[in-house]
Amino acid sequence: MTEKVSALNKKESSWSGRFSEPVAELVKKYTASVGFDYRLAPYDIQGSLAHARMLSQQGIITHEDHVAIEKGLNEILQEIASGSFEWLLDLEDVHLNIEKRLTDKIGDAGKRLHTGRSRNDQVATDVRLWLRATTDHVMAGLRNLQSSLLDLAEANFDTVMPGFTHLQVAQPVTFGHHLMAYVEMLKRDAERFSDVRRRINRLPLGAAALAGTSYPIDRDMVAQALGFEGVCENSLDAVSDRDFAIEFTAAASLVMMHLSRLSEELILWSSPRFAFIDIADRFCTGSSIMPQKKNPDVPELVRGKTGRVYGHLTALLTLMKGQPLAYNKDNQEDKEPLFDTADTLLVTLEIYADMLRLPVIENGVVVKTGFVVNKENMRKAASEGFATATDLADYLVKKGMPFRDAHEAVALAVRYAVDKEVDLSDLPLATLQEFASEIDQDVYAVLTLEGSLNSRDHRGGTAPSQVKKAIDRARQEMR
Ligand code: ARG
Repeated sequence: MTEKVSALNKKESSWSGRFSEPVAELVKKYTASVGFDYRLAPYDIQGSLAHARMLSQQGIITHEDHVAIEKGLNEILQEIASGSFEWLLDLEDVHLNIEKRLTDKIGDAGKRLHTGRSRNDQVATDVRLWLRATTDHVMAGLRNLQSSLLDLAEANFDTVMPGFTHLQVAQPVTFGHHLMAYVEMLKRDAERFSDVRRRINRLPLGAAALAGTSYPIDRDMVAQALGFEGVCENSLDAVSDRDFAIEFTAAASLVMMHLSRLSEELILWSSPRFAFIDIADRFCTGSSIMPQKKNPDVPELVRGKTGRVYGHLTALLTLMKGQPLAYNKDNQEDKEPLFDTADTLLVTLEIYADMLRLPVIENGVVVKTGFVVNKENMRKAASEGFATATDLADYLVKKGMPFRDAHEAVALAVRYAVDKEVDLSDLPLATLQEFASEIDQDVYAVLTLEGSLNSRDHRGGTAPSQVKKAIDRARQEMR
């Protein structure tokens, strides 16, 4: 895009009458935003169309001027869409580029479009319109990823894996249950975006430069035409605050944080030391020197890009903190962090949803590769780390032993089994009884992985029957 921004040699700034010399070339480049805010063009035109219709209805411009403005703006929209529009750096930003083109096309009527408006309320409106549409895309992306996770969870509702605390084997869980934890996180993320959307969805136009305007405008009409839920109540606030952009970036940071955690797990699980999963080759790369390597690039980059989005959040917070009311040029710096946050988040959601998709198998043949779960390895890992030790302690409690005593008895049994290099369930009954005389033959049902899983049979627990219910509820909520 930047290459498309060419220099205009004539001194054509819309405010040039006040100045005795042209802006220095380097300053022009420094202050221009068209290299990135050209993305707002469709929203800028949408806002101008609504503004012009209101000006005409209120008798502030004539019907003829309105017709000319509408025709001109629609032509410009086409020029931009087809790539024939020439963006000029000298015209500073998206707003002045479009306005100049309009004036070139339709003359004085074009110059009347800016009546009762300032670039300050104009840019705030454009950013809100763009961000509202972007928020809707993010919410669709979250749903798509949730649906991938739900399919994977369903296919693994009873797949046994070790659950970890401190990254040490803790208790058996199902892989479906583990995945459903991320579905919950993404549900909250989606809630945050729909909440942010309500605050994005307010109209700044009418605030003009900062104090409002003396023309008899109808803000409600413009708000309605642009699909805003209402107007920003205070003109100074309307043109100056970017808290809605900060909120969006904060919500994006939380999604990235969640996906970074999952990424870290995928990276661990796909290492041969775990060998729990295989990520399809199209999401990985090899090493130029080590032929055996298959690197989980996508999860690693998601983890890395999380830092990038956090950086944008810090940038936006810092951008606002020292600004007195009302608009300051600082605010022009809101766009690049915001655009990059949205771009990073949207592409991450899309790739992630695809990466977690199950392989497509037709007549026993894999027609599309996908996310592979090595169930045997997961199960083996769950049976190796004394994952059912807590179940043995709970068993003793149910036989009347105080929990602390049961904990100690089982700890001693585990230590013994570690020495002998066997699992608790491999110890004969007589040996187990040396640690607690309450132990009976029925203990072996408790020491199995399935026994442990099935006993956690309540809402939010890992029992496969509960995981199924959780998946059903999540699907229901997504309808
Ligand atoms: N490009 C500016 C921005 O992004 C538009 C508003 C400029 N307003 C002004 N008074 N210079 O914030």
